Amino acid sequence: MTVRCRVDLGRLAPYRPGPPAPPHAGPAFKLSSNENPYPPLPSVQEAIAAALGKVNRYPDMAASELTAALAGCSGVTPDEIVLGAGSVEVASAVIRAVAGAGDEVVYAWRSFEAYPQLVIGAGAVPVEIPLTAGLAHDLDAMASAVGPRTRCVIVCNPNNPTGTVVTETALERLLDQLPPDLAVVLDEAYCQFDVDPASPRGLALFGHHPNLVLLRTFSKAYGLAGLRVGYAVAPAVLAAEIRKVALPFGVTDLAQTAALASLAAEGELTDRVAVLTERRSRVEAALARQGWRLPASQGNFVWLPTGQATAAAQSALAQRGLVGRVFDGEGIRLTVGEEDSLPPLLDAAGAIWEFIENGPARPA
Ligand SMILES: Cc1ncc(COP(=O)(O)O)c(C=O)c1O
Repeated sequence: MTVRCRVDLGRLAPYRPGPPAPPHAGPAFKLSSNENPYPPLPSVQEAIAAALGKVNRYPDMAASELTAALAGCSGVTPDEIVLGAGSVEVASAVIRAVAGAGDEVVYAWRSFEAYPQLVIGAGAVPVEIPLTAGLAHDLDAMASAVGPRTRCVIVCNPNNPTGTVVTETALERLLDQLPPDLAVVLDEAYCQFDVDPASPRGLALFGHHPNLVLLRTFSKAYGLAGLRVGYAVAPAVLAAEIRKVALPFGVTDLAQTAALASLAAEGELTDRVAVLTERRSRVEAALARQGWRLPASQGNFVWLPTGQATAAAQSALAQRGLVGRVFDGEGIRLTVGEEDSLPPLLDAAGAIWEFIENGPARPA
C-alpha cells in the first residue's frame, strides 16, 4: 500500500532543471538556465566570505536591512517588499495567498515552466492562454479568460522562453479591464536586459494599480542564482498576506548579505548587463543573417523555434559542447552566456537552419 497523495498532482511533472554542459573534447557551455556567466563581483564574494562565520544562527527573518535597501531603491515602503528564496518561491507564495482549491490562475503559454507547478501546487487551476503567432502574450485573450473563479493573472515580461515583451500601453489596458481585486503579477525576472522603450517598467506602474504585484530576482542580472534570493513588490495589505504563507527563514544570511553587496555594486553589475545585451544583439543579427526570423528577445537568451527539428538541433548543439533548454517539438532556448560560447552557438544555429530549410541530412 502506498501513501495516498493528492490526485491533482497526477497531472503534474516535477520541475526540470536546465541540464549541465555536455561532455565535449573542447570547451563546453551550459546555456540551459539563463544564468549570468559572470562570477560574483570580488566585493560580493568578500561580503559572502565575511558572513560565513555566522551560519550557526538563523538569518534575520524579516531581512530588515535588505528590505529597507530594496524599498529605498524601488521608491516603495518596506512593507511593500516581500523577500523569498528566489522569485520562484515568492511567486509561489503570491499564488498561495490569492488562490486556493478550484480558483483559476491565468497565464500565457508557453511561458516560465514553473507556473503550472506553482498553480497546481496551490490546489488552483491553471488557465493557459496560447502565445500569439509572434510568440508574445495575447493580453486580450488573457483578459477574456478571466472569470468569477480567476484570482490571479501572470504576465511574464520579458517572456521566458521567447524573450518577447508586452507594451506598457497594452499592459495598462489589461489592468484597466480587470477587476481591481484580481492580482496581476508582472514577472520581471529579466527586466534589466529589456531595452525596448515601449516595455512597461513595473515600478512606474506600481502605486497606480492596487492589484499589481512585481516579481524581481537577484538570479539573473545580479548573478546570484545559486544563493536563491528574489522579492515581490506588492501593495502592503497583500504583502502582509503573502508573508503569512512564505517559507519561514527562506532567505539565508549569505543570500541577504550578497544581495545587499550587489545593490552597493549596482553600477558594475549594470555594466555587465550592458555587455550581455550587446552580445545578444550580435547573436540576433548573426541569426537573422543565417535566415532565422525571430521576434526580438529582451531577455538574456534567444529562442530558436526548431519545431520538428528540435531533437536534431539538440544534438547539433551537443556536438559543439552546448546545451540549451529543450522543449520537444517546439524549440530551444539558449542563454546568451560567455563570449566564447557565441561561435559554436552560431555555428550550430547555421547548421540547424540549413537542416530546417533543406533537410533531410541531419545537421552535423
Ligand atoms: C520568468 C522567470 N521568473 C522567475 C524565475 C525564477 O528565478 P529565481 O527563482 O531564481 O529568482 C525565472 C527563472 O528562470 C524565470 O525565468
